Amino acid sequence: MNIFRGAQHPGWPARLGPVRVAAGAVSLRPVRLRDASAWSRIRLRDRDHLEPWEPTGRGSWEARNHASNWPSLWSSLKAEGRKGVMIPMVIEVNGEFGGQLTVGNIVRGALRSAWIGYWVSKELGGAGVATAALALGVDHCFGPVGLHRVEATVRPENLASQAVLRNVGFREEGMLRRYLDVDGAWRDHLLVGITVDEVAGTVLDRLIREGRATSN
Ligand code: ACO
Repeated sequence: MNIFRGAQHPGWPARLGPVRVAAGAVSLRPVRLRDASAWSRIRLRDRDHLEPWEPTGRGSWEARNHASNWPSLWSSLKAEGRKGVMIPMVIEVNGEFGGQLTVGNIVRGALRSAWIGYWVSKELGGAGVATAALALGVDHCFGPVGLHRVEATVRPENLASQAVLRNVGFREEGMLRRYLDVDGAWRDHLLVGITVDEVAGTVLDRLIREGRATSN
């Protein structure tokens, strides 16, 4: 029995979707211990695609993304999930591991806010996966999780991710100078945010109305 379900951490664990986009059926589900090989295979193959946007890590990319590192990463993600401060999800496309979407730093009280971040396998790029996954994540935050605001930070050079954030309705709030240690240096990041009152109905409904997605 999960004693944390509901009371301490509304909205966790959860399965979200599916929603259909050009790439196929996109859904979100909690990270699993058995994701190790799919996670590692994609991340080792897609280093050039991922590394420019990710926090600087200790050791080589190969070492950090080896399948043997997943159990400890999975365990810490799950622990944060159980504490109610994180929602660590896998993005599935047609039932296969396609990337990750994480809601972090969930703060309650008068703030009721969190950040959201994601990555998608290069071979699935440009087919609506991140937009659909982000819509599912934001709707979940404003629904069962009960948040008022979700924010994200993105490098000004990351035009694809900015397009994804715009698709979902995030607004620009400013530039954070030398904000994060990413790809070996302190990088400026755009801060974007969305509050629940800015979403009429759900983000997903709007994507469907705009013809970006279908509900399956
Ligand atoms: N310039 C401008 N727009 C671009 C470019 C580009 N070079 N490349 C793609 N786009 C646009 C596409 O046209 C599309 O916008 P549209 O729907 O309005 O036409 C959008 O970017 C891509 O939308 P999706 O297909 O939904 O996104 P995708 O599944 O390809 O994933 C992502 C995008 C997540 C950025 C992926 O490329 C990725 O994982 N990159 C590496 C990691 C990363 O950058 N993660 C995000 C970090 S920031 C954050 O987490 C808040």
